[in-house]
Amino acid sequence: MNARAARPHWWHGATLYQIYVRSWRDSDGDGYGDLRGVIAGLDYLRWLGVDGIWLSPTMPSPDHDWGYDVSDYTGVHPGLGTMEDLDLLVAEAGRRDIAVLLDLVPNHTSSAHPWFVDARSGRGSAHRGYYIWADPAADGGPPNNWLSATGAPAWTLDDTSGQYYLRSFLSTQPDLNWREPAVHAEFERILRFWFDRGIAGFRIDVAQGLYKDAALRDDPPVAAAGRIDGRFGLAQVYSANRPESHGVFRDWRAIAETYSPPRLLLGETWVGELASMAAFHGDCDELQLTFNFPVIFAGFTAGALSGVVAETLAVLPAGECPVWTASNHDVGRFPTRWCEGDEARARLALLVLATLPGTLVLYYGDEIAMTDVDVPAGSRRDEITGDAPGGRLRDRARTPMLWDASPAAGFTADGVRPWLPIGDHAERNVAGQRDDPASTLRFCRDLLALRRTEFGGTIAAYTQLPGPPGVWMYRVGDLVVAANLASDPACLDGLEGPLLLSTSRAAAGPEAGPVTGLGPWEGVIVRGSGPAR
Ligand code: GLC
Repeated sequence: MNARAARPHWWHGATLYQIYVRSWRDSDGDGYGDLRGVIAGLDYLRWLGVDGIWLSPTMPSPDHDWGYDVSDYTGVHPGLGTMEDLDLLVAEAGRRDIAVLLDLVPNHTSSAHPWFVDARSGRGSAHRGYYIWADPAADGGPPNNWLSATGAPAWTLDDTSGQYYLRSFLSTQPDLNWREPAVHAEFERILRFWFDRGIAGFRIDVAQGLYKDAALRDDPPVAAAGRIDGRFGLAQVYSANRPESHGVFRDWRAIAETYSPPRLLLGETWVGELASMAAFHGDCDELQLTFNFPVIFAGFTAGALSGVVAETLAVLPAGECPVWTASNHDVGRFPTRWCEGDEARARLALLVLATLPGTLVLYYGDEIAMTDVDVPAGSRRDEITGDAPGGRLRDRARTPMLWDASPAAGFTADGVRPWLPIGDHAERNVAGQRDDPASTLRFCRDLLALRRTEFGGTIAAYTQLPGPPGVWMYRVGDLVVAANLASDPACLDGLEGPLLLSTSRAAAGPEAGPVTGLGPWEGVIVRGSGPAR
């Protein structure tokens, strides 16, 4: 048993790293990243100091949504590798004390999944009840007003039966019917299949979506535009967010707890209210971890972030572990969203994310302050955001990892066309930063090492401290963090205690004296009691 496996809550105070497999490392020169590429990168991840990786979907799929349209839940996508590759990856990661989480997509399957192929073959088919079918409205149109992720009606007419089927994403992603007991049994089998293979847990896609309103009532109009859980002007009150989904997670948690260490369930809980997010922890008997979208969409200001952090800590049930992340394959990268590409700000964002109590989830490239890439129309690969206006295009955050300054950035063989274009990598790449102690990569590594020493296995106590305007100051465990989220310098009252890490001072060390001020976008970590009293 490795060191991690000996700890029941290894994710407390840990760092997870999301790998969008197609974009991380290409081992066979076809322009797509793959599982062998992930294996080749494990030493790097060990060096960086991550405790676990979450792989974006690895299961067979026609790739209308790049694996989020699964056609076989117990297989491996041939474009990414084989089951042997995945087993080897789990074993090699384990040897480096790195846990492997997979992505599980229970809200919908691919329309190519044998369940759906059978279901659409006729009303009396064995798997008909696995999906959500409804007769047309009186005018022949969709059964209700629900909208899909593209803004189109969430229903597709099936010519064979004359009924509509629900698809909250693309028409090639029919929603499963969680009111069908057989669907529960199928997923319990799928969970056990992967847990038995040594998978440490799952990130659960669209966790809020599983159950829909039994009566298919219309979603009401949303009050405020741009709400996190609004869809093109509708609040997803009936098309998602139904209370019955909690029962699924209680069942899955019970299964996860039969393993040692318990398997981890991390929900993509795309909800706007922190109380709704906290509800997915149940009575400490549902998901152990939940993605915090209100933090992701908060502004990068001291006021906004400290407020949502305080609220998060207040609403989570006692003993439950918060999750901090700010980039992913859907929302984009924080060095762009929060920091306008500015590296100083990106380091500050890393510093605060890594010093909050709980689990940190980095997205590949965060550690070198990788930014979004402007993907030109002819090179786009995402059907869901298609030609949506600039900001929402998801391809921008899925471009290849920047390993070095060579033409293909070390992602694939030189001369091979990568599946998405490679961003500017003259300055920001792993090789260029690895040996430079002043680089963002080394700063990130130092942060993760400090985090592991200070917080590993725990959920540190957090208290916000008073600070000047623009400065977010808090005590966390035995550390005090002061972060100046502003472009003006700030005076501090004198932070006592040795300076452990700073976003901008190369010479941080035990000998450094009190910190009396912060430069623009500067953050520091000291050990000790905090501001001089
Ligand atoms: C989640 C995934 C996203 C996918 C969608 C449908 O939001 O993160 O990439 O398109 O679910 O599965």
